[in-house]
Amino acid sequence: MSLFRRKAIADLQAEAVSEHGLKRELGAFSLTLLGIGAIIGTGIFVLTGTVAAQNAGPAVVLSFVIAGSAAIFAALCYSEFAALVPIAGSAYTYGYATLGELFAWIIGWDLVLEYALSATTVAIGWSGYVVSFLSHIGVHIPAQLSAAAGTQVTMADGSTVTALFNLPAVIIVVLVTALLVRGIKESARVNDVIVFVKVGVVLLFLLFAWKGIDAANWQPFIPANTGLRENFGVSGIIAGAGVVFFAYIGFDAVSTAAQEAKNPQRDMPIGIIASLLICTVLYIAVSLIATGVVPYGQLDVPDPIAKVADAAGLGWMTRLIELGAIAGLSSVILVQLMGQARVFWSMANDGLLPPVVNKIHPKYRTPWITQIVLGVLVAIPAGFLSVREAASLVSIGTLLAFVIVCGAVLLLRHREPDLKRPFRTPIVWFTAPAGIISCLYLMYYLPWRTWERLFIWLGLGLVIYFLYGRRHSKLAKPS
Ligand code: ALA
Repeated sequence: MSLFRRKAIADLQAEAVSEHGLKRELGAFSLTLLGIGAIIGTGIFVLTGTVAAQNAGPAVVLSFVIAGSAAIFAALCYSEFAALVPIAGSAYTYGYATLGELFAWIIGWDLVLEYALSATTVAIGWSGYVVSFLSHIGVHIPAQLSAAAGTQVTMADGSTVTALFNLPAVIIVVLVTALLVRGIKESARVNDVIVFVKVGVVLLFLLFAWKGIDAANWQPFIPANTGLRENFGVSGIIAGAGVVFFAYIGFDAVSTAAQEAKNPQRDMPIGIIASLLICTVLYIAVSLIATGVVPYGQLDVPDPIAKVADAAGLGWMTRLIELGAIAGLSSVILVQLMGQARVFWSMANDGLLPPVVNKIHPKYRTPWITQIVLGVLVAIPAGFLSVREAASLVSIGTLLAFVIVCGAVLLLRHREPDLKRPFRTPIVWFTAPAGIISCLYLMYYLPWRTWERLFIWLGLGLVIYFLYGRRHSKLAKPS
């Protein structure tokens, strides 16, 4: 039974208000901006193009609607927990309070796919935009060093070369890691500025690129299925939804900032739900315009939004959009790597990871060893994976975490119905099961290869838990 030992909600609530050294500075507005900062990234700037070209055609818009609905159900469940136990461990902590230690570990381990691997994915997206921007100003990164190993890169003269390694993706991970070690704090102000730039760029795109729409590009809106489940037709739309689900990831990063919120009971739900709704609207509009301006078959490039902007005749504004995307993607990497360090922090505090994880640098006051190890582990796949492979694995890992969180909300309602909940998931007996079913459905449509990788990852995690965490868990020791 020790596998299912739980932390008491009351203890967690006491932990949440205890002195922890972080400043409580964030209000509802900053939390919403934090969410938008973590959400808008490779999903909209890159995956819109690959999914339109490979899975859904113009109906990628519907993929965004479906994935957005699953995300909204999950966000409503996250909000209930984030207001009830405002602790940086997020889903890991919610799992510890409801399902017990083994599940908490599984979620914590699974969140590595969400946070660390999405930093990898965004770094790959960043690389695409940097390479394109540099080539427009006359600086050419050798094609062999600008994409995942084995990718065929088409050169300007039409010839193709096989890429060896994605160097820019590795460089950005190293740079962000260096910043995190040096102690760049998640200064709300810096984040606010980058978010304004990023949203500004998206709005600029929406405002001007629609003029380039040719309605013929939306025909057929749902291209006929080719025989393969994920290639077009209705099943292609759903498979595409599983991939673009990646675009919505990040609203839960708001919940990792719970201990820095001034009034988490009120502001956590606002930050989570508002950031997600704003991004959903922007995504639907961007994908509609992108497929209206450029025929969907031509969108499978590393920088589809820049390609659309060019095709819509935006001229110099395209370069501005690229620069905004580059800045915006860097901030996503920063927030994800920091969110990962916070989740690890909570796990090490509970004894499930070794204390070295929380070793603070004497001068910079950052968990430097964790950040460096994380940086290396994130940079290596960034050099070798394609954006799509990495994103699918992030999506499946995150969907699993969302399924568990939705289930945990229901379980806690059942087990402790009278608990004072500052935010209650509306119509929870519908919303939580809808979240579970829609997330499972999207998982089901992801490729088998992605499932295999998920099982290998979780299996590895279980080995580590039984070798280390189970024996060192603080909950196992009488205080
Ligand atoms: N939602 C984030 C992105 O699209 C992770 O990059």
